[in-house]
Amino acid sequence: MMSNATLSIGGTNVEMPVLSGSIGPDVVDIRKLYAQTGAFTFDPGFMSTASCESSITYIDGDEGVLLHRGYPIGQLAEQSSFLEVCYLLLNGDLPRQDEYANFTRTITRHTMVHEQLSTFYRGFRRDAHPMAVMCGVVGALSAFYHDSTDIADPEQRRIASHRLIAKMPTIAAMAYKYSVGQPFIYPDNRLSYSGNFLKMTFGVPAEEYEVNPAIERAMDRIFILHADHEQNASTSTVRLAGSSGANPFACIAAGIACLWGPAHGGANEAALNMLREIGRPERIPEYLARAKDKNDPFRLMGFGHRVYKNYDPRATVMQQTLREVFEALKINDPVFEVALQLEEMALNDPYFIEKKLFPNVDFYSGVILSAVGFPTEMFTVLFALARTVGWVAQWNEMISDPAQKIGRPRQLYTGPTQRDYVPLNQR
Ligand code: SDX
Repeated sequence: MMSNATLSIGGTNVEMPVLSGSIGPDVVDIRKLYAQTGAFTFDPGFMSTASCESSITYIDGDEGVLLHRGYPIGQLAEQSSFLEVCYLLLNGDLPRQDEYANFTRTITRHTMVHEQLSTFYRGFRRDAHPMAVMCGVVGALSAFYHDSTDIADPEQRRIASHRLIAKMPTIAAMAYKYSVGQPFIYPDNRLSYSGNFLKMTFGVPAEEYEVNPAIERAMDRIFILHADHEQNASTSTVRLAGSSGANPFACIAAGIACLWGPAHGGANEAALNMLREIGRPERIPEYLARAKDKNDPFRLMGFGHRVYKNYDPRATVMQQTLREVFEALKINDPVFEVALQLEEMALNDPYFIEKKLFPNVDFYSGVILSAVGFPTEMFTVLFALARTVGWVAQWNEMISDPAQKIGRPRQLYTGPTQRDYVPLNQR
């Protein structure tokens, strides 16, 4: 259904088409606005701006709904696997059994990295933040795979997509091994995607590594929860980089760099650090007061969201996964109690209620990952590992969209108007 919006500007009335999606808010198509009025729109942070058309993921922030190709995240987390969700995000439908078997075999056989890639790690200090390592090593993949950087060729895009999804666990595990001075562990094709990642991370050559099925399932579910999330900051970064024709490895490296920020993917690391700093429930009121104090830059990490103005459905599954991991590992970490009580108090606090601030995906993830044995600095690396499939699916959608153009936003200029140069000896 198409209707029009009328904008009256400078005495001119301009009709703009209003487009409707399958669900969600309508959009006003302003593509001809500048040509017809000489004016731009102004929307820093894209609070009211759709940057693209997409059919991959849909979020209803008011209802706390997250759909991947129409399937609710709760059902996928409960019944699917991360590799099946990868197939769904890339191809648009759940695979038949033969398709799933083929896809799993393809991804499994791409998990090794070029042997020379390991030399890139040795250029970093052992205490380098692993996200710095990920930015560098993933970007370096461009130098190894010249046979899959022609983005105009769908077959090369397919191979590059599979390589990125398959190799991220290997590259992430190598970043961890390098930081602790242990040897890199090669992929083991007998294991599942998540089981293989656990072995490459926590296994050592000196003994057999036994994958704990409860932890394998928890990791797979955590990867599902982080797979894709509409046009978030890092996905928008990947799309913008890809719009210039940059190769997929460079685009994903750009996404990793953006995800690192504490307001985005870095929040899981910041949230656990915050919970540990709070330390015990009696100190929660002090931190809630700080979060509400406009003069204090402190924010409750893992709380709030640009889109969710209700409970992030991923946080619900994450809390349930946390209970399962603590049960499986017989862990009793006071930080979980602090997280539960902080959530309870914040959700009953007028400030958080009025501003619609709820726990997001990052609030509990750090507690789980710490319990499994990952150091805090690795949390955002795991987010990047899982989000790679979302970045790749969105990148493919953009490249294959006939309407796509290089992204080049305009601005509201408020700097000096033209003036003449004054020689140094006259200033
Ligand atoms: C992710 O986009 C995505 O989909 C991201 C993500 C994904 O899967 O890709 O979901 C992953 O990034 C989750 C978010 C992780 N970040 C954090 O947990 C960091 C803490 N949260 C905030 O910094 C903030 O909530 C954002 C960045 C997440 C959202 O910020 P917005 O939408 O720009 O909202 P805002 O900063 O304008 O805040 C609105 C108001 C402000 O108060 P006023 O200026 O109106 O008085 O709410 C306040 C903020 O001060 N506020 C908070 C708060 N978050 C917002 N106050 C205290 N603690 C917080 N966490």
